[in-house]
Amino acid sequence: MSAPRVRIADIARHDGQIVSIAGWLYNLRRSGKICFPLVRDGSGIIQCVAVKANLPEELFEQLKDLTQESSLIVTGKVRAEARAHGGFELDVESAEILQRVSESDPYPITPKDHGIDFLMDHRHLWLRSKRQVAIMRIRHEVIKAIRDYFDGQGFTLVDTPIFTPAACEGTTTLFEVNYFDEEKLYLAQSGQLYNEANAMALGKVYCFGPTFRAEKSKTRRHLTEFWMVEPEMAYATLEDVKALAEGLVVYCVGRVLENRRPELEALERDVKKLESVQAPFPRMSYDDAVKILQGKGSEITWGGDFGNTDETLLTQEMDRPVIVDRYPSEIKAFYFQPDESNDKLALGVDVIAPEGYGEIIGGGQRIHDPELLLRRLKEHDLPPEAFNWYMDLRKYGSVPHGGFGMGVERFVAWMCGTEHIRECIAYPRMLYRTRP
Ligand code: 4AD
Ligand code: MG
Repeated sequence: MSAPRVRIADIARHDGQIVSIAGWLYNLRRSGKICFPLVRDGSGIIQCVAVKANLPEELFEQLKDLTQESSLIVTGKVRAEARAHGGFELDVESAEILQRVSESDPYPITPKDHGIDFLMDHRHLWLRSKRQVAIMRIRHEVIKAIRDYFDGQGFTLVDTPIFTPAACEGTTTLFEVNYFDEEKLYLAQSGQLYNEANAMALGKVYCFGPTFRAEKSKTRRHLTEFWMVEPEMAYATLEDVKALAEGLVVYCVGRVLENRRPELEALERDVKKLESVQAPFPRMSYDDAVKILQGKGSEITWGGDFGNTDETLLTQEMDRPVIVDRYPSEIKAFYFQPDESNDKLALGVDVIAPEGYGEIIGGGQRIHDPELLLRRLKEHDLPPEAFNWYMDLRKYGSVPHGGFGMGVERFVAWMCGTEHIRECIAYPRMLYRTRP
């Protein structure tokens, strides 16, 4: 009878049993008549103990000289070992080596330090490292938490198209696509416009997919392809949007803390900085934020957009994100509802994360008046024909409504404490990076 195949993550349930683990050689230590293959299987890492006296000679020799990332299935007895990482070891009884990585062409990523360009060029292999696995697990948790949050509050997931005929977030960051040589389309910058239609059909909706921006900026916060979740609510005001955004952030941070402690530990993340992320978040207007920034020595003047340094400065003494609203309409997209008391201000809101992670959420209340919307399209030089269907939403039962977008990679970078968001998506696309 062959031993049952188990995952390293579940090993505690098999103490004292003979099991098989299918994985890859992560590392190897040897000392004379014993060798210790460290095996990873994607769910975890376990130290195996191979004793020369207990194994066929040939197998011991094979294991002792096994090369990094060779694939193998090891069978042996699980033994609790307090000193072992993960609390268990496996006493090897047999092993099958599926592929031995050749010494003449060894696995390129060794435990020594490699430069970031080298690692990025080998992203398809780099993903196997402990740190990258931890980041991908946290990303998975964040995505699941986002969906649970919205699903639990009566939102319906409605996916929006990626080939789109019109801009949403300004024409300077559009990726153009030749659509059968007959028509020019753009890759979606946001699902928002379609979300607005969907919200009028279903009340509360969200879309969750890849988003594209031809960002020429080479910063640690910008990708050209990123994932964004965008909720949209009918009969909603700016205040509703702010409350929803705050609730989402608190919930997702809580879920990461609840379910991903080992990963946070592997990343050496200071969890106290996440534990303090509780409601209510401080709230301020753009006007106030500009004054605070000027007081801190920023050169920003009223009407300017916050740069990375401004966002970092603004949250410097804060232990949780800050919610900033009412930005100058001039620096915002065409669709923002103006503030009733000052029509130079847009009812837009950003949530800015602490520790230098910057804007993680942007959104606001949309224009519901058809005349104003048409005027704004013209002011922004957008072709009204492409927005005919969007104008229909203002003709047939128009209501105040709003929503926001949260960038998954920015959120994950904050959770993981990574220097750059490129590590928070499996295959990052940036200004100078399109491979692998
Ligand atoms: O502030 P943005 O541009 O807002 C929108 O797209 C709205 N239409 C969303 C909505 O109201 N439905 O983008 C929203 C968020 C940002 O706060 C940021 O987290 C992320 O998307 N984001 C990026 N993430 C990575 N790389 C980029 N180039 C990003 N641009 C925006
Ligand atoms: Mg924004």
